Amino acid sequence: MNNKIKIAPSILASDFSKLNDEIHDIEGAGADFVHLDVMDGHFVPNLTFGPPLIKSLRNLTKLTFDVHLMVSNPDDFIDEYIEAGADILTVHVEACNHLARTLSYIQSKGCKAGVAINPHTDIQFLNNVIENLDLVLVMTVNPGFGGQKFINTMINKISSVREIISSRKIFLEVDGGINQKNAKDVINAGANVLVAGSSVFNTNNNRNYKMNIEALKN
Ligand code: DX5
Ligand code: ZN
Repeated sequence: MNNKIKIAPSILASDFSKLNDEIHDIEGAGADFVHLDVMDGHFVPNLTFGPPLIKSLRNLTKLTFDVHLMVSNPDDFIDEYIEAGADILTVHVEACNHLARTLSYIQSKGCKAGVAINPHTDIQFLNNVIENLDLVLVMTVNPGFGGQKFINTMINKISSVREIISSRKIFLEVDGGINQKNAKDVINAGANVLVAGSSVFNTNNNRNYKMNIEALKN
C-alpha cells in the first residue's frame, strides 16, 4: 500500500443520521483525514453545515479535520472554524480579497492553511503565496455537490501545480469524482491527498470502507 498517499473521506456522502458511526468506521478503515465540506448557498449553490456540527464531531476522533470552506467572505469565519477543531482550513482563491493575509492569519492561529482552485482557475498566483501554503486543493469537479463526474483535463492541471509546489512540504489534494479508476492517474500527476466521498461511502459492498480506502491507495 502507498503510505505516502493520504485518503480524506468527505462526510458529505456519509449517512448524516449516523455520523458517529461513520467517523469511527472510516477511522478504523484507515482514513487519514476527515474532509468537511462547508457550503454557504452563495459561493456555491448548495448548503451543508457549519462550526457547531464540526465541533460536535471533534471529540469523536483524532483524525485530522480537513475543512474545505466553499463560502463567500471566509475571513469572517476563520476563528470559528479553528475553534470548532479544524486542523487544516482551506479557502477558495476567488472568495478572498487578500489571499496572503488570509492564509497567514490561519497559520498564525496554529492551523494549516490551504487554497482551493476551481477547474477554471489559473494557477500562476500560487507562486505569489507559496510561502503561506500548507495545502493546495485542486477541484476536479465544479464545487457544490458530491457525486459528480471527474473532469479529465484536470490531470494536466495537477501536474502543473506539482511543478510549482515541487518538493516543498505542501499537500497537493484533489477533490471531486475521485474513484478507484482515476486514483492512479491523479497520484501519477503528483497528488498526495485524495478526497473521496461517493467512492468511500456510497457503495454496494456492505459498508466495507476499508476495502474502498485501500483500493484508492493501491
Ligand atoms: C464538492 C466537494 C467534494 C465532494 C466530493 O464540492 O468539495 O468534497 O463532496 O465528493 P465525491 O467524491 O462524491 O465527488
Ligand atoms: Zn471538498
